[in-house]
Amino acid sequence: MTREVGIGVIAMGWMGMTHSRAYQQVVNRFPDSGVVPRLKVCADTDSDRTNEACRRFGFERTTEDWREVLDDPGVEVVSITSPNWLHREMCLAALEAGKHVFCEKPVGRGPSETREIAAAAHAAGLLTFTGFCYRWSPVVQHLLALIKEGRLGQVTHYRGRFFCGYGHNPKSVLSWRFERNKAGFGVLGDLMSHALDMALMLAGPVAEVVSENETFISERPIPSQAGTHFAVSEDGPVAAVTNEDYVGAMVRFANGARGTLEVCRVIG
Ligand SMILES: NC(=O)c1ccc[n+]([C@@H]2O[C@H](COP(=O)([O-])OP(=O)(O)OC[C@H]3O[C@@H](n4cnc5c(N)ncnc54)[C@H](O)[C@@H]3O)[C@@H](O)[C@H]2O)c1
Repeated sequence: MTREVGIGVIAMGWMGMTHSRAYQQVVNRFPDSGVVPRLKVCADTDSDRTNEACRRFGFERTTEDWREVLDDPGVEVVSITSPNWLHREMCLAALEAGKHVFCEKPVGRGPSETREIAAAAHAAGLLTFTGFCYRWSPVVQHLLALIKEGRLGQVTHYRGRFFCGYGHNPKSVLSWRFERNKAGFGVLGDLMSHALDMALMLAGPVAEVVSENETFISERPIPSQAGTHFAVSEDGPVAAVTNEDYVGAMVRFANGARGTLEVCRVIG
């Protein structure tokens, strides 16, 4: 017995495309789940992106107004894959509309927005999910099983490192990720959220932490149009990067284990 579940995806950038592809694979990867995702509608202010998503994934329709996704009675689950400054408004509206919500990390621009969204999610009693994808990797799940079974003994040391190069080129434009008012934190939200999620899962709660941060590339070219961080501009005006490129932390876990967590987006 299978049941169709209507899906709406809001914002068809990198992650909107990734979520759509993942929904398409559910039947193949989880044949016994009894669930068949139906890609109903996708939204983006850029119609080229929604048209491309339609062509690639077969959404039934597209819209430039994300609220139309929430108005659709055929949509049960909404993926919110927009930039961080839109998470709060979109999550609260989706929960208000009675939709189950899969929001990308970091779920808002900082603790106050995240807390507000979490409170609304708990109050709504709907299913909610966050895009901490790395914890589901088979090798990480295997490691978790080894730890749980005690086959590695007591965990006394933990090292989490997520080094990326997506911002290593100083000519990469000042996309939303590099602006505090749009992204909130820099790598603390973008990459440390993943590193910490995995550390909490594998080594348990953190008791104490000391950390520091740095912005190695302090200014970037202003994009001439809404560009991603992969867009490059050789000349033209520049503006300040207003959040951090790097965070390093020393951690004491509640179980007594010691660890370091380090994330960076400008590794060349
Ligand atoms: N889980 C992961 O590993 C992972 C990886 C990458 C990104 N993310 C998260 O996914 C989110 C999106 O990141 P991305 O890299 O896909 O960004 P992106 O810049 O590639 O795409 C953002 C999209 O949002 C659209 N958009 C902007 N305003 C909109 C609006 N008002 N209505 C509808 N669409 C709008 C843009 O047109 C663009 O298509 C972020 O929160 C990011 O932290 C998670």
